[in-house]
Amino acid sequence: MLLEELKEATGKCRGNTCSGLLWGLLCFLVFIKDIVEDIHAEIRCFADDTSLYFVFYKRSVLPKIQQIKEMTTTNGDSQIIDSVKEYYGKKLKNVSDLQTQACVAPGRRVNKNVREAISQVHEEVASKYYGCGLVIPAKLEGIKVLDLGSGSGRDCFAISKLVGQNGQVTGIDMTDEQIEVARKYIDYHTKTFGYDKPNVNFVQGYIEKLLEAGLQENFYDLIVSNCVVNLSPDKCAVLSEAYKVLKEGGELYFSDVYCDRNLEDSVRKHETLWGECIAGALCWKDLISLAEKTGFSTPRLETVSPIPIDRDDFKKILGDAKFCSVTYRLFKLPKVEKSPPLQVIYSGDVTGCENQLDFDHRNHFKTGDVYTIDSELVTILKNSRFSDEFEFQPATKGVCGTTGNTVDNPFDVLLEKERKGEQVSPACCAPGKCC
Ligand SMILES: C[S@@+](CC[C@H](N)C(=O)[O-])C[C@H]1O[C@@H](n2cnc3c(N)ncnc32)[C@H](O)[C@@H]1O
Repeated sequence: MLLEELKEATGKCRGNTCSGLLWGLLCFLVFIKDIVEDIHAEIRCFADDTSLYFVFYKRSVLPKIQQIKEMTTTNGDSQIIDSVKEYYGKKLKNVSDLQTQACVAPGRRVNKNVREAISQVHEEVASKYYGCGLVIPAKLEGIKVLDLGSGSGRDCFAISKLVGQNGQVTGIDMTDEQIEVARKYIDYHTKTFGYDKPNVNFVQGYIEKLLEAGLQENFYDLIVSNCVVNLSPDKCAVLSEAYKVLKEGGELYFSDVYCDRNLEDSVRKHETLWGECIAGALCWKDLISLAEKTGFSTPRLETVSPIPIDRDDFKKILGDAKFCSVTYRLFKLPKVEKSPPLQVIYSGDVTGCENQLDFDHRNHFKTGDVYTIDSELVTILKNSRFSDEFEFQPATKGVCGTTGNTVDNPFDVLLEKERKGEQVSPACCAPGKCC
Protein backbone atom coordinates (compact mmCIF):
# COMPACT_ATOMS: atom_id res chain seq x y z
CA MET A 1 0.00 0.00 0.00
CA LEU A 2 2.79 2.43 0.93
CA LEU A 3 4.64 1.57 -2.24
CA GLU A 4 1.49 2.30 -4.20
CA GLU A 5 1.18 5.68 -2.47
CA LEU A 6 4.79 6.54 -3.20
CA LYS A 7 4.35 5.63 -6.83
CA GLU A 8 1.14 7.61 -7.01
CA ALA A 9 2.82 10.65 -5.52
CA THR A 10 5.67 10.42 -8.00
CA GLY A 11 3.47 9.05 -10.79
CA LYS A 12 3.31 12.20 -12.85
CA CYS A 13 7.05 12.50 -12.80
CA ARG A 14 7.57 9.00 -14.04
CA GLY A 15 6.23 10.28 -17.34
CA ASN A 16 9.55 12.11 -17.44
CA THR A 17 11.59 8.93 -16.90
CA CYS A 18 14.76 9.54 -18.90
CA SER A 19 16.53 7.23 -21.24
CA GLY A 20 19.75 7.88 -23.08
CA LEU A 21 23.07 9.12 -21.86
CA LEU A 22 22.59 12.76 -22.77
CA TRP A 23 19.24 13.04 -21.08
CA GLY A 24 20.64 11.19 -18.07
CA LEU A 25 23.57 13.59 -17.85
CA LEU A 26 21.24 16.55 -17.94
CA CYS A 27 19.15 15.03 -15.17
CA PHE A 28 22.25 14.43 -13.12
CA LEU A 29 23.22 18.09 -13.47
CA VAL A 30 19.77 19.09 -12.32
CA PHE A 31 20.09 16.66 -9.46
CA ILE A 32 23.41 18.09 -8.28
CA LYS A 33 22.91 21.77 -8.84
CA ASP A 34 19.16 21.96 -8.29
CA ILE A 35 19.13 24.66 -10.96
CA VAL A 36 15.43 24.53 -11.64
CA GLU A 37 13.98 26.21 -8.60
CA ASP A 38 10.57 24.62 -8.49
CA ILE A 39 11.66 21.08 -9.35
CA HIS A 40 13.31 18.46 -7.16
CA ALA A 41 15.05 15.53 -8.85
CA GLU A 42 16.47 12.32 -7.52
CA ILE A 43 17.46 8.82 -8.56
CA ARG A 44 15.12 6.21 -7.14
CA CYS A 45 14.32 2.53 -7.48
CA PHE A 46 11.11 0.79 -6.48
CA ALA A 47 10.94 -2.46 -4.54
CA ASP A 48 9.04 -4.38 -7.20
CA ASP A 49 11.15 -3.14 -10.09
CA THR A 50 14.88 -3.41 -10.79
CA SER A 51 15.15 -0.25 -12.98
CA LEU A 52 16.57 3.01 -11.73
CA TYR A 53 14.44 6.07 -12.41
CA PHE A 54 15.31 9.72 -12.56
CA VAL A 55 12.33 11.09 -10.74
CA PHE A 56 11.18 14.73 -10.80
CA TYR A 57 8.62 16.26 -8.52
CA LYS A 58 7.37 19.71 -7.79
CA ARG A 59 8.70 20.94 -4.48
CA SER A 60 5.13 21.27 -3.20
CA VAL A 61 4.76 17.45 -3.04
CA LEU A 62 8.07 16.96 -1.19
CA PRO A 63 6.56 16.85 2.33
CA LYS A 64 4.23 14.03 1.22
CA ILE A 65 7.14 12.11 -0.37
CA GLN A 66 9.23 12.58 2.78
CA GLN A 67 6.39 11.32 4.97
CA ILE A 68 6.00 8.18 2.88
CA LYS A 69 9.75 7.57 2.83
CA GLU A 70 9.83 7.82 6.61
CA MET A 71 6.99 5.33 6.87
CA THR A 72 8.66 2.72 4.70
CA THR A 73 12.20 3.21 6.13
CA THR A 74 13.66 1.13 3.30
CA ASN A 75 12.28 -0.70 0.32
CA GLY A 76 13.02 -3.98 2.10
CA ASP A 77 10.89 -2.95 5.08
CA SER A 78 7.92 -2.03 2.95
CA GLN A 79 8.20 -5.33 1.11
CA ILE A 80 8.05 -7.22 4.43
CA ILE A 81 5.04 -5.16 5.53
CA ASP A 82 3.24 -5.82 2.23
CA SER A 83 4.02 -9.53 2.39
CA VAL A 84 2.77 -9.82 6.02
CA LYS A 85 -0.44 -8.01 5.05
CA GLU A 86 -0.92 -10.45 2.19
CA TYR A 87 -0.30 -13.38 4.56
CA TYR A 88 -2.79 -12.31 7.24
CA GLY A 89 -5.23 -10.63 4.88
CA LYS A 90 -5.48 -13.05 1.97
CA LYS A 91 -3.60 -16.32 2.59
CA LEU A 92 -4.73 -17.34 6.06
CA LYS A 93 -8.45 -17.82 6.53
CA ASN A 94 -8.24 -19.39 9.98
CA VAL A 95 -5.84 -21.03 12.41
CA SER A 96 -5.85 -24.38 10.56
CA ASP A 97 -4.09 -22.70 7.59
CA LEU A 98 -0.92 -22.15 9.62
CA GLN A 99 2.04 -24.27 8.54
CA THR A 100 4.08 -24.27 11.75
CA GLN A 101 3.25 -24.47 15.42
CA ALA A 102 4.14 -20.90 16.27
CA CYS A 103 0.55 -20.26 17.38
CA VAL A 104 -1.72 -20.41 20.41
CA ALA A 105 -1.86 -22.15 23.84
CA PRO A 106 -1.46 -20.60 27.24
CA GLY A 107 1.79 -21.63 28.91
CA ARG A 108 0.44 -20.93 32.41
CA ARG A 109 -2.50 -21.53 34.67
CA VAL A 110 -5.50 -19.50 33.58
CA ASN A 111 -7.92 -18.29 36.19
CA LYS A 112 -11.67 -18.73 35.90
CA ASN A 113 -12.45 -15.10 34.99
CA VAL A 114 -9.96 -15.12 32.13
CA ARG A 115 -11.19 -18.50 30.88
CA GLU A 116 -14.76 -17.23 30.93
CA ALA A 117 -13.91 -14.01 29.09
CA ILE A 118 -12.10 -15.94 26.35
CA SER A 119 -14.95 -18.41 26.00
CA GLN A 120 -17.41 -15.54 25.37
CA VAL A 121 -15.52 -14.28 22.29
CA HIS A 122 -17.43 -14.82 19.04
CA GLU A 123 -16.40 -17.98 17.20
CA GLU A 124 -15.43 -16.26 13.93
CA VAL A 125 -13.06 -13.99 15.87
CA ALA A 126 -11.67 -16.99 17.80
CA SER A 127 -11.13 -19.02 14.63
CA LYS A 128 -8.79 -16.29 13.36
CA TYR A 129 -6.71 -16.12 16.51
CA TYR A 130 -2.99 -16.45 15.69
CA GLY A 131 -1.38 -15.67 19.04
CA CYS A 132 1.51 -17.56 20.65
CA GLY A 133 0.81 -16.98 24.34
CA LEU A 134 -1.66 -15.58 26.80
CA VAL A 135 -1.46 -11.80 27.01
CA ILE A 136 -4.01 -11.25 29.76
CA PRO A 137 -2.19 -10.23 32.94
CA ALA A 138 -3.78 -9.65 36.33
CA LYS A 139 -5.47 -6.46 37.61
CA LEU A 140 -7.26 -5.04 34.60
CA GLU A 141 -10.36 -3.40 36.11
CA GLY A 142 -10.95 0.11 34.82
CA ILE A 143 -7.66 0.52 32.94
CA LYS A 144 -6.75 1.63 29.39
CA VAL A 145 -5.24 -1.11 27.24
CA LEU A 146 -3.69 -1.08 23.76
CA ASP A 147 -3.17 -4.27 21.72
CA LEU A 148 -0.40 -4.07 19.08
CA GLY A 149 -1.33 -6.17 16.03
CA SER A 150 -4.78 -7.01 17.35
CA GLY A 151 -5.76 -9.19 14.36
CA SER A 152 -9.39 -10.31 14.47
CA GLY A 153 -9.58 -8.98 18.06
CA ARG A 154 -9.73 -12.06 20.29
CA ASP A 155 -7.51 -10.66 23.02
CA CYS A 156 -9.10 -7.19 22.77
CA PHE A 157 -12.61 -8.58 23.28
CA ALA A 158 -11.59 -10.85 26.18
CA ILE A 159 -9.77 -7.93 27.82
CA SER A 160 -12.72 -5.62 27.15
CA LYS A 161 -14.76 -7.89 29.43
CA LEU A 162 -12.08 -7.88 32.15
CA VAL A 163 -11.51 -4.09 32.21
CA GLY A 164 -15.27 -3.56 32.63
CA GLN A 165 -17.51 -0.79 31.29
CA ASN A 166 -15.21 1.94 32.65
CA GLY A 167 -12.06 0.52 31.11
CA GLN A 168 -11.02 1.05 27.51
CA VAL A 169 -9.38 -1.21 24.93
CA THR A 170 -7.87 -0.18 21.59
CA GLY A 171 -6.56 -2.62 19.00
CA ILE A 172 -4.27 -1.50 16.20
CA ASP A 173 -3.59 -3.56 13.08
CA MET A 174 -2.46 -2.73 9.56
CA THR A 175 -4.39 -5.43 7.66
CA ASP A 176 -7.78 -4.45 6.18
CA GLU A 177 -9.31 -7.93 6.47
CA GLN A 178 -8.33 -8.35 10.14
CA ILE A 179 -9.63 -4.91 11.13
CA GLU A 180 -12.86 -5.60 9.25
CA VAL A 181 -13.58 -8.82 11.19
CA ALA A 182 -12.73 -7.14 14.52
CA ARG A 183 -14.99 -4.13 13.87
CA LYS A 184 -17.84 -6.38 12.71
CA TYR A 185 -18.09 -7.88 16.21
CA ILE A 186 -17.87 -4.79 18.43
CA ASP A 187 -21.65 -4.57 18.91
CA TYR A 188 -21.94 -8.32 19.49
CA HIS A 189 -19.47 -8.18 22.40
CA THR A 190 -20.94 -4.95 23.83
CA LYS A 191 -24.29 -6.76 24.11
CA THR A 192 -22.77 -10.04 25.33
CA PHE A 193 -20.96 -8.27 28.18
CA GLY A 194 -24.05 -6.18 29.03
CA TYR A 195 -22.40 -2.78 28.40
CA ASP A 196 -24.35 0.42 27.57
CA LYS A 197 -21.75 1.45 25.01
CA PRO A 198 -18.67 -0.15 23.42
CA ASN A 199 -15.44 0.04 25.42
CA VAL A 200 -13.33 -1.30 22.56
CA ASN A 201 -12.25 0.24 19.24
CA PHE A 202 -9.95 -0.76 16.40
CA VAL A 203 -7.53 1.56 14.62
CA GLN A 204 -5.97 0.74 11.29
CA GLY A 205 -2.28 1.61 11.38
CA TYR A 206 1.31 0.55 11.88
CA ILE A 207 2.75 -0.50 15.22
CA GLU A 208 5.98 1.29 14.26
CA LYS A 209 4.01 4.56 13.95
CA LEU A 210 1.55 4.71 16.84
CA LEU A 211 1.51 8.51 17.12
CA GLU A 212 0.97 8.89 13.40
CA ALA A 213 -1.96 6.48 13.72
CA GLY A 214 -3.54 9.02 16.11
CA LEU A 215 -2.77 7.36 19.46
CA GLN A 216 -2.04 9.65 22.41
CA GLU A 217 1.26 9.95 24.25
CA ASN A 218 1.37 8.90 27.94
CA PHE A 219 -2.13 7.48 27.75
CA TYR A 220 -2.22 3.69 28.22
CA ASP A 221 -1.80 1.75 31.48
CA LEU A 222 -1.04 -1.47 29.65
CA ILE A 223 0.08 -2.52 26.18
CA VAL A 224 -0.32 -6.14 25.13
CA SER A 225 0.77 -7.85 21.94
CA ASN A 226 0.47 -11.44 20.83
CA CYS A 227 2.88 -12.84 18.24
CA VAL A 228 3.31 -9.60 16.29
CA VAL A 229 6.61 -7.88 17.14
CA ASN A 230 8.53 -10.67 15.35
CA LEU A 231 6.69 -9.69 12.15
CA SER A 232 7.92 -6.10 12.25
CA PRO A 233 11.00 -5.18 10.21
CA ASP A 234 11.74 -2.40 12.76
CA LYS A 235 11.40 -3.80 16.28
CA CYS A 236 13.20 -0.85 17.84
CA ALA A 237 10.57 1.54 16.43
CA VAL A 238 7.81 -0.68 17.86
CA LEU A 239 9.27 -0.60 21.36
CA SER A 240 10.06 3.09 21.33
CA GLU A 241 6.55 4.03 20.11
CA ALA A 242 5.06 1.72 22.76
CA TYR A 243 7.14 3.55 25.37
CA LYS A 244 5.78 6.91 24.17
CA VAL A 245 2.09 5.99 24.42
CA LEU A 246 2.42 4.27 27.81
CA LYS A 247 1.83 6.25 31.00
CA GLU A 248 4.63 6.36 33.54
CA GLY A 249 4.34 3.12 35.51
CA GLY A 250 2.65 1.49 32.51
CA GLU A 251 3.46 -1.99 31.30
CA LEU A 252 4.23 -3.71 28.00
CA TYR A 253 3.13 -7.33 28.45
CA PHE A 254 3.70 -9.36 25.32
CA SER A 255 4.12 -12.86 23.96
CA ASP A 256 6.39 -13.42 21.02
CA VAL A 257 8.66 -15.89 19.27
CA TYR A 258 12.38 -15.91 20.14
CA CYS A 259 15.33 -17.77 18.70
CA ASP A 260 18.45 -19.08 20.45
CA ARG A 261 20.64 -17.28 17.86
CA ASN A 262 20.65 -14.58 15.20
CA LEU A 263 19.22 -16.06 12.03
CA GLU A 264 21.10 -15.70 8.75
CA ASP A 265 19.87 -13.27 6.12
CA SER A 266 18.93 -16.12 3.77
CA VAL A 267 16.51 -17.44 6.43
CA ARG A 268 15.17 -13.96 7.17
CA LYS A 269 14.21 -13.55 3.52
CA HIS A 270 11.97 -16.64 3.56
CA GLU A 271 8.51 -15.15 3.10
CA THR A 272 6.45 -18.04 4.46
CA LEU A 273 8.71 -18.49 7.49
CA TRP A 274 8.48 -14.75 8.17
CA GLY A 275 4.68 -14.83 7.86
CA GLU A 276 4.61 -17.85 10.20
CA CYS A 277 6.37 -15.76 12.91
CA ILE A 278 9.65 -17.72 12.67
CA ALA A 279 12.09 -15.90 10.35
CA GLY A 280 11.60 -12.51 12.01
CA ALA A 281 12.14 -13.86 15.54
CA LEU A 282 14.62 -11.90 17.67
CA CYS A 283 17.51 -13.66 19.33
CA TRP A 284 16.32 -13.58 22.99
CA LYS A 285 19.43 -11.61 24.06
CA ASP A 286 18.55 -8.77 21.69
CA LEU A 287 15.35 -7.99 23.56
CA ILE A 288 17.42 -7.04 26.59
CA SER A 289 19.42 -4.44 24.65
CA LEU A 290 16.31 -3.19 22.83
CA ALA A 291 14.50 -2.71 26.14
CA GLU A 292 17.44 -0.76 27.55
CA LYS A 293 17.82 1.37 24.41
CA THR A 294 14.14 2.32 24.37
CA GLY A 295 13.97 3.16 28.09
CA PHE A 296 12.10 0.11 29.43
CA SER A 297 12.92 -1.87 32.57
CA THR A 298 14.76 -5.18 32.23
CA PRO A 299 12.47 -7.77 30.58
CA ARG A 300 10.99 -10.08 33.20
CA LEU A 301 10.23 -13.54 31.85
CA GLU A 302 6.75 -14.71 32.77
CA THR A 303 6.21 -17.93 30.80
CA VAL A 304 8.03 -19.86 28.10
CA SER A 305 6.88 -22.67 25.79
CA PRO A 306 8.79 -24.56 23.10
CA ILE A 307 7.96 -24.16 19.40
CA PRO A 308 8.84 -27.38 17.62
CA ILE A 309 9.57 -27.17 13.88
CA ASP A 310 8.00 -30.25 12.33
CA ARG A 311 8.18 -29.77 8.59
CA ASP A 312 11.29 -31.27 6.97
CA ASP A 313 11.64 -28.50 4.37
CA PHE A 314 11.58 -25.86 7.13
CA LYS A 315 14.01 -27.88 9.28
CA LYS A 316 16.42 -27.93 6.35
CA ILE A 317 16.34 -24.15 6.08
CA LEU A 318 16.48 -23.47 9.83
CA GLY A 319 19.20 -26.02 10.69
CA ASP A 320 19.80 -26.32 14.45
CA ALA A 321 18.09 -23.04 15.35
CA LYS A 322 15.66 -23.44 18.25
CA PHE A 323 12.52 -21.40 18.85
CA CYS A 324 10.29 -20.73 21.80
CA SER A 325 7.43 -18.45 22.69
CA VAL A 326 8.02 -16.18 25.67
CA THR A 327 5.79 -13.77 27.54
CA TYR A 328 7.76 -10.83 28.93
CA ARG A 329 6.82 -7.92 31.19
CA LEU A 330 8.53 -4.55 30.57
CA PHE A 331 7.70 -1.38 32.51
CA LYS A 332 8.02 2.34 31.84
CA LEU A 333 9.45 3.49 35.15
CA PRO A 334 9.99 6.98 36.55
CA LYS A 335 13.60 8.11 36.77
CA VAL A 336 13.89 7.77 40.52
CA GLU A 337 16.82 6.97 42.72
CA LYS A 338 17.52 3.25 43.01
CA SER A 339 15.69 1.80 45.99
CA PRO A 340 17.40 -0.71 48.27
CA PRO A 341 15.90 -4.22 48.21
CA LEU A 342 12.77 -4.28 50.37
CA GLN A 343 10.36 -6.77 51.86
CA VAL A 344 6.84 -6.92 50.51
CA ILE A 345 3.57 -8.53 51.55
CA TYR A 346 0.87 -9.15 48.95
CA SER A 347 -2.69 -8.18 49.94
CA GLY A 348 -4.57 -10.94 48.09
CA ASP A 349 -7.00 -8.35 46.69
CA VAL A 350 -6.39 -8.83 42.95
CA THR A 351 -9.41 -10.50 41.33
CA GLY A 352 -8.65 -14.10 40.39
CA CYS A 353 -5.39 -14.08 42.40
CA GLU A 354 -6.79 -14.22 45.92
CA ASN A 355 -4.29 -16.82 47.18
CA GLN A 356 -1.24 -15.99 45.09
CA LEU A 357 -0.06 -13.43 42.53
CA ASP A 358 2.27 -14.95 39.92
CA PHE A 359 4.27 -11.92 38.83
CA ASP A 360 6.98 -13.57 36.77
CA HIS A 361 8.54 -17.01 36.64
CA ARG A 362 10.71 -16.24 39.69
CA ASN A 363 8.28 -14.21 41.79
CA HIS A 364 5.12 -15.88 43.08
CA PHE A 365 3.66 -13.88 45.96
CA LYS A 366 1.52 -15.91 48.35
CA THR A 367 -1.02 -13.74 50.16
CA GLY A 368 0.28 -12.55 53.52
CA ASP A 369 3.81 -14.01 53.16
CA VAL A 370 6.93 -11.83 53.38
CA TYR A 371 9.29 -11.67 50.39
CA THR A 372 12.52 -9.76 49.81
CA ILE A 373 12.63 -8.31 46.31
CA ASP A 374 15.34 -6.66 44.19
CA SER A 375 15.49 -2.89 43.74
CA GLU A 376 14.04 -2.80 40.22
CA LEU A 377 11.05 -4.86 41.30
CA VAL A 378 10.56 -2.47 44.23
CA THR A 379 10.34 0.42 41.72
CA ILE A 380 7.95 -1.57 39.51
CA LEU A 381 5.60 -2.51 42.34
CA LYS A 382 5.65 0.98 43.85
CA ASN A 383 4.94 2.79 40.56
CA SER A 384 2.68 0.47 38.55
CA ARG A 385 -1.00 -0.47 38.83
CA PHE A 386 0.10 -2.99 41.50
CA SER A 387 1.20 -0.28 43.95
CA ASP A 388 -1.86 -0.60 46.23
CA GLU A 389 -1.57 -4.38 46.40
CA PHE A 390 1.66 -4.53 48.43
CA GLU A 391 2.83 -3.45 51.83
CA PHE A 392 6.50 -2.43 51.81
CA GLN A 393 8.93 -2.73 54.73
CA PRO A 394 12.71 -2.56 55.15
CA ALA A 395 14.50 -5.80 54.36
CA THR A 396 15.73 -7.80 57.34
CA LYS A 397 17.76 -10.97 57.33
CA GLY A 398 16.28 -14.42 57.66
CA VAL A 399 13.25 -14.08 55.42
CA CYS A 400 12.58 -16.84 52.93
CA GLY A 401 11.52 -16.26 49.33
CA THR A 402 14.42 -13.94 48.41
CA THR A 403 14.36 -13.15 44.71
CA GLY A 404 16.91 -11.77 42.25
CA ASN A 405 16.78 -9.66 39.12
CA THR A 406 18.42 -12.06 36.67
CA VAL A 407 17.73 -12.01 32.95
CA ASP A 408 17.10 -15.63 32.17
CA ASN A 409 17.86 -17.47 28.97
CA PRO A 410 14.39 -18.82 28.08
CA PHE A 411 15.92 -21.94 26.54
CA ASP A 412 17.64 -22.69 29.88
CA VAL A 413 14.35 -22.10 31.69
CA LEU A 414 12.72 -24.67 29.38
CA LEU A 415 15.48 -27.22 30.02
CA GLU A 416 15.17 -26.65 33.75
CA LYS A 417 11.41 -27.18 33.59
CA GLU A 418 11.92 -30.42 31.65
CA ARG A 419 14.53 -31.56 34.16
CA LYS A 420 12.08 -30.97 37.01
CA GLY A 421 9.43 -32.93 35.10
CA GLU A 422 7.16 -29.89 34.73
CA GLN A 423 4.81 -29.92 31.77
CA VAL A 424 6.17 -27.82 28.88
CA SER A 425 3.35 -27.84 26.34
CA PRO A 426 4.26 -26.50 22.90
CA ALA A 427 3.39 -22.84 22.31
CA CYS A 428 0.83 -24.05 19.88
CA CYS A 429 -1.62 -26.51 18.66
CA ALA A 430 -0.77 -28.44 15.53
CA PRO A 431 -2.75 -27.11 12.58
CA GLY A 432 -6.33 -28.16 12.92
CA LYS A 433 -6.34 -29.19 16.58
CA CYS A 434 -6.19 -26.79 19.46
CA CYS A 435 -4.59 -27.60 22.76
C1 LIG B 1 0.26 -13.52 14.07
S1 LIG B 1 -1.02 -12.37 13.85
C2 LIG B 1 -1.54 -12.13 15.52
C3 LIG B 1 -2.86 -11.44 15.60
C4 LIG B 1 -3.44 -11.31 17.01
N1 LIG B 1 -2.52 -10.70 17.93
C5 LIG B 1 -3.87 -12.66 17.51
O1 LIG B 1 -3.33 -13.08 18.54
O2 LIG B 1 -4.72 -13.27 16.89
C6 LIG B 1 -0.16 -10.88 13.47
C7 LIG B 1 -1.02 -9.66 13.25
O3 LIG B 1 -0.18 -8.52 13.31
C8 LIG B 1 -0.49 -7.61 12.27
N2 LIG B 1 0.75 -6.88 11.97
C9 LIG B 1 1.94 -7.41 11.60
N3 LIG B 1 2.85 -6.45 11.43
C10 LIG B 1 2.23 -5.27 11.70
C11 LIG B 1 2.65 -3.91 11.70
N4 LIG B 1 3.90 -3.59 11.38
N5 LIG B 1 1.76 -2.97 12.03
C12 LIG B 1 0.47 -3.30 12.36
N6 LIG B 1 0.02 -4.57 12.36
C13 LIG B 1 0.88 -5.54 12.05
C14 LIG B 1 -0.98 -8.50 11.15
O4 LIG B 1 -1.82 -7.78 10.28
C15 LIG B 1 -1.72 -9.59 11.89
O5 LIG B 1 -3.06 -9.27 12.09
